[in-house]
Amino acid sequence: MDNQYYAEMLGKYIPWGSSTCSKHATLTPEEPAVIVSGKGCRVKDADGKEYIDFRNSLGPISLGYCYGPVDDAIRSQLDKGIVFGYPSPLEAEVAKAVTEIIPCAEKARFLKTGGEAIAACIKAARYITGHDHVIQIGYNGWLNSLASGALALPNRKGTSGKTGIPAAIASLHHTASWNDTGKLEELGKAYGDDLAAVVVAADYANMDAGRSFYPYLRTFTERYGAALVYDEIVTGFRIALGGVQEFYGVTPDMAVFAKGIANGMPLSVYCGKAKWMDAFDKAIVSSTYGGEALSLAAAKKVIEIYRSEDVIGHLWRMGARMWGGMEKIIEEYSLPIQMGCIDRPLSFFRPRPGADSGHVEKMKRAIFKAGVAIYNGGYVNYSHQAKDIDEALERIEGAVKTL
Ligand SMILES: Cc1ncc(COP(=O)(O)O)c(C=O)c1O
Repeated sequence: MDNQYYAEMLGKYIPWGSSTCSKHATLTPEEPAVIVSGKGCRVKDADGKEYIDFRNSLGPISLGYCYGPVDDAIRSQLDKGIVFGYPSPLEAEVAKAVTEIIPCAEKARFLKTGGEAIAACIKAARYITGHDHVIQIGYNGWLNSLASGALALPNRKGTSGKTGIPAAIASLHHTASWNDTGKLEELGKAYGDDLAAVVVAADYANMDAGRSFYPYLRTFTERYGAALVYDEIVTGFRIALGGVQEFYGVTPDMAVFAKGIANGMPLSVYCGKAKWMDAFDKAIVSSTYGGEALSLAAAKKVIEIYRSEDVIGHLWRMGARMWGGMEKIIEEYSLPIQMGCIDRPLSFFRPRPGADSGHVEKMKRAIFKAGVAIYNGGYVNYSHQAKDIDEALERIEGAVKTL
């Protein structure tokens, strides 16, 4: 069975071609329709073709595919059991570790996906404040599509037409762009008296605006008695172990961590100050799989590795090598894209203003064909070594030369 076979099956049996919209390949046959296996920083598709991978499962793989010590921890927990009728000791141990590494975390709980953990924080904020309105900045998971005009996917704005969201619910959710203080002031005037929370995910390409934007958001939410919730699903375990709150030194009330914390196992953490987290003693958020032990075993090991090895330093060094190298190629070959954040573990590119989308597509197809899996930029992981980055850059340069 090859890529073509699976591409047809996915199209036939799965709406959108995948359960994760952003994983649906739109540039086949150059882009892989499915990935069969991964090791370190490389993956193989159903045709047996290898790619140096910068998609990292769209974020969760922070140490590398099949990373030995984490897989061993999962296997050893598998011998004891996956999930029980009572919490596993790991639930307490990982919650404690989270409070030690995340600045805002006095208490923590677990779910499976980032989006539902953000929804939990919104519920706590509404419970504690008695307010209903929520402002969301950036993509916070598919629940984000509650707000008309919000990012329905990382690179796709929602429509204000038919959305499947009741108007009464949509009217409580508002969206503002990253660093758009003017829009926030407007929303504050209109809904401040009934504002429960501001949820913010950084705009990675323009993250350094956070130096002034996070302090602004801290003051803004305090003005209205609303909760400040950081979506650290991408930034946590990458920009710093404790995410942007550690990096920029502005502590939110609650935060969500997910991608990166368990090297691919499905786990999200919602954590924060006791004042807000204690809402969950009464406001119900509950899921059978919240404390599932294989993911917690992985998270415990991942946290240990991050604390004992310079993972963050490595991610920054490899990120600078990769995205800095990519920037040089973009300039040299006048590619139709522009990158942001080229010195970091993650980077994203956008089409240059006025660029022909056909050129961008051609460039991406050529890069996939050369054996590099990108995602409008992407992530480095702890298994990318300098030689992998250099090889990826050589493959990319070779590919764009042919255009
Ligand atoms: C910043 C951010 N927030 C939230 C989410 C949603 O997480 P999940 O897909 O686990 O629900 C994502 C996923 O892409 C994300 O990148």
